[in-house]
Amino acid sequence: MLRRLHPDQPESFAFSPENQKWAEAQITKYPEGREASAIIPLLWRAQEQEGWLSRPAIEFVADMLDMAHIRALEVATFYFMFQLQPVGSAAHVQVCGTLSCMLCGAEDLIEVCKEKISPTAHTVSKDGKLSWEEVECLGACANAPMVQIGKDYYEDLSSERFAELIEDLRNGSAPVPGPQNGRFSVEPAIGLTSLLEGEGAGSAVNKSVALAKKFKDTIKKIDGTEANLSVNWEKQ
Ligand code: FES
Repeated sequence: MLRRLHPDQPESFAFSPENQKWAEAQITKYPEGREASAIIPLLWRAQEQEGWLSRPAIEFVADMLDMAHIRALEVATFYFMFQLQPVGSAAHVQVCGTLSCMLCGAEDLIEVCKEKISPTAHTVSKDGKLSWEEVECLGACANAPMVQIGKDYYEDLSSERFAELIEDLRNGSAPVPGPQNGRFSVEPAIGLTSLLEGEGAGSAVNKSVALAKKFKDTIKKIDGTEANLSVNWEKQ
């Protein structure tokens, strides 16, 4: 697939003050003269802040790392994880379309995206709030079919439940991630058949979902205020 910069670009880009501090600290992880090695985390942070990577953002990062713009553009256009076009203001939905998910109903989820978001992938919905794309295996095959939205996984989806999730996102809420059919994690659909000791004694949701509920950053644009900056890798 040809990956090009979007024709409509913003005038400029700058990190939020906290993200700027975070980016400068990341650069100190690398030896002198090798600062360009920080390009992936910095581009990723720019995307987390804005939702997508614009040309000014890519060039801003290149300037921070003292790299030729073309080198940063090569990286940004190579990796599919970088969004080169605007995404929905509320959320960008990534539907896994690989084997397990495809066998378990990914095509139906894609139909829901086409109907409720936009007929084509990488196109922002009419209300500007949502966009979608099909992605390769996200490593949650035991909970197929599934989608990634922001930082979190929504698993064991049916078309109906997925349609509800999309409406929740559109209305400004981030639904609780994890299995959407009542499963705790990846136990058999009929319930645990082994390792029964302690069943029901722990949390009502698995660790990943508990963290998602705690941080509430599923669809949040990351501005650097989410956690205290820690730079313990710096030379003492
Ligand atoms: S095939 Fe969908 S998560 Fe692996």
